[in-house]
Amino acid sequence: MKDIKEKTEGKIADYFDKKHALITGRACSGLWLYLKAKGYKDNFIILPNNICTVVPYTVSLSGNKPYFVDIEDSGLIDLKLLDRLKLNKVAAVLGSHLYGNILDYQKLLRICRARNWDVIEDVAQAMGANYRGKIAGSLADCTITSFGIGKHIDLGYGGMVAVNDGLVFEKMTRFQKDLPSYDLETFKSKLDSFKRLLAVNPYFYKWNDSEKDICYEALFFSLKAEDDYYLNLEKGLTHLKKENQLRAKKAELFSKHLRNNALKPMLFHNDATYWRFNILVKGRRDELLQHLKEKRIKATKYFEAADKYFSLDTENKFPVSYRQEKEILNLWVGKETSLKDAEEISLIINSYFESVLK
Ligand SMILES: Cc1ncc(COP(=O)(O)O)c(C=O)c1O
Repeated sequence: MKDIKEKTEGKIADYFDKKHALITGRACSGLWLYLKAKGYKDNFIILPNNICTVVPYTVSLSGNKPYFVDIEDSGLIDLKLLDRLKLNKVAAVLGSHLYGNILDYQKLLRICRARNWDVIEDVAQAMGANYRGKIAGSLADCTITSFGIGKHIDLGYGGMVAVNDGLVFEKMTRFQKDLPSYDLETFKSKLDSFKRLLAVNPYFYKWNDSEKDICYEALFFSLKAEDDYYLNLEKGLTHLKKENQLRAKKAELFSKHLRNNALKPMLFHNDATYWRFNILVKGRRDELLQHLKEKRIKATKYFEAADKYFSLDTENKFPVSYRQEKEILNLWVGKETSLKDAEEISLIINSYFESVLK
């Protein structure tokens, strides 16, 4: 008889229009299992340069190399640059729907099929979005997502990888059995050690073996969870539409009330699912963040340009991701922010600029 985890995995696989899904410790664990199961080694995995750095750490620890491509103003990988790439030994492209904006998969798949590159769909920041009538996460043969803090389905930790290939699924399941299994408390303590390392040295190419081990332990594990976890995951899937409508309402409030020439909202597509509501702040971004922090308002500056943490023998320049790194400020639109908060936070930001710029 199937246990509750397997039943939930079946529902996730159906949701993403896949044959199989595996619940993992986090999205990075799923990506690592997939790269291993496909046998990718010493290959390039192409990533947008504004991806959360845990992803290129994962690629490096899988024995492959991240290859970064700059982004567009929407925060999505620049497909024109990808199309122009002349690069050997590419195994796969991570097609990430970043900030809830949806990547043009028709174009991406055309580029990748012509070169025989695998595509991994990353829906960690865009659960519940649609692309040409299809669910985001159903557009390629492999999909990863995260159920970590601030995600559309926020269970504190966890992730999944879904595939169509039965052999790849069987291998991932086998490899996952060799990973340690963490409950939420163990995960938090591994994450704390990793954060302490990042605070002093985020440079992958400078890490010694024991520093790599700290990263490895925080990224690759299986989930030790009670039945409640799986029930909440299923509930999250059922309520995604509602969750996204609520996030869109908060984004609308930010958009309506934020008024100052010192900031502008980041480019959001009409069909975006708002992972965060991002504003671009020219100058004073860090002062504003500090001001919000003092008022106990949740705001962050994700994501920085990731290439600098890896030793790369490329001449690539990344003007857009380096500009965004300096200007981006994420306002949270999940359960930590009520509709009333969204309005109040906007007014606090407006009056901050009015007082410092007068
Ligand atoms: C776009 C994207 N992909 C993958 C990940 C990794 O997810 P996890 O933290 O569950 O490993 C993240 C994490 O924030 C992310 O933002």
